[in-house]
Amino acid sequence: MPGDRIRILLGRLEREHSLSRDEWVYLFEHRDAKSLEYLKQKARAVADRYFGKDIYTRGLIEFTNHCRNDCLYCGIRRSNRNAERYRLTREEILQCCEDGYTLGFRTFVLQGGEDESYSDEDIVEIVRSIKAGFPDCAVTLSIGEKSRASYLRFFEAGADRYLLRHETADFGHYRRLHPPELSPEHRRECLWNLKEIGYQVGTGFMVGAPGQTAECLAEDMLFIRELEPHMVGIGPFVPHHETPLAKEPGGSVELTLWCIGVLRLMLPQALIPATTALGTIAPDGREQGILAGANVVMPNLSPVAVRKKYELYDNKICTGEEAAECRFCLAGRMERIGYHIAVSRGDHPSRRKEEADV
Ligand code: SAM
Ligand code: FES
Repeated sequence: MPGDRIRILLGRLEREHSLSRDEWVYLFEHRDAKSLEYLKQKARAVADRYFGKDIYTRGLIEFTNHCRNDCLYCGIRRSNRNAERYRLTREEILQCCEDGYTLGFRTFVLQGGEDESYSDEDIVEIVRSIKAGFPDCAVTLSIGEKSRASYLRFFEAGADRYLLRHETADFGHYRRLHPPELSPEHRRECLWNLKEIGYQVGTGFMVGAPGQTAECLAEDMLFIRELEPHMVGIGPFVPHHETPLAKEPGGSVELTLWCIGVLRLMLPQALIPATTALGTIAPDGREQGILAGANVVMPNLSPVAVRKKYELYDNKICTGEEAAECRFCLAGRMERIGYHIAVSRGDHPSRRKEEADV
């Protein structure tokens, strides 16, 4: 059994879905192996209550690794002269969707660096073509910081969801991980704009990013509580050898699972992926993520020829696999722990009515 105070705080978090800053700091500072086991059981029970044994899946299409930004942790930052850059055409993206649809995907996530060679009109055209070709599918964009007007255009073109991790809610920590032209204020403004426009919004952070303290994590939890996103994507920081943070230690499995667990108690209905980064630092990382309260997996649908090039961090898994291999590999992994991949859009419960209207 974990210590009394941890048990009391987790109980309150489960009932009231919020804690004070000091309580969060206490939880992050005093967690241990026993309390993680206790938290995992609670978090999984909450996820089972809302989602049963269904695991939602999203087909991830990494359509460009060009990026105008220079985040200190990221392997596709513009200063990495050794990154082999690529872009997919609209036809290539549609082919990924075609393959994905056959494999049972009903959500496509278009992710990329901030690549200005795709105009807003290009993105609108890509979204429109996917929605026209696959009307029963959801489209998620994850293409970074844009103006409110651009976000609105993409939404009107049919984009359903948007993923933009806040990365860290502590402003000093944010500045340490990013060049001066990127600001935590603007990142937040983007998230609020996306929410207000009507997207299902996802945010998140890297666990164990260099300089992250219990206080930073407490800020993350308070910000997520305030934003109330539909999705929260978290994964361990994994160093990339061509970045200024190459020599820093990566995030741990234990802390990542702890974060997944407390997020599940705070936002019981949220869509929380067991990420590729978690699968990269432990062979059964994604299974462990599900057992700690996650309910989404995001297999890779990108063409094999480009997969290695979307290298955000070292040793990323699934870079040699075909779409079908990842799909079936993950299905097997889920079955073995008593879960199954659902063929559905996998909307947030508050948006399920829309799903029925499609
Ligand atoms: N450009 C878009 C954006 O900024 O949201 C999407 C692409 S960005 C590469 C996707 C996510 O990768 C980031 O939000 C970041 O959290 C994660 N990431 C980047 N480098 C990483 C690293 N070294 N370890 C773990 N995650 C990393
Ligand atoms: Fe890609 Fe297992 S998920 S090979």
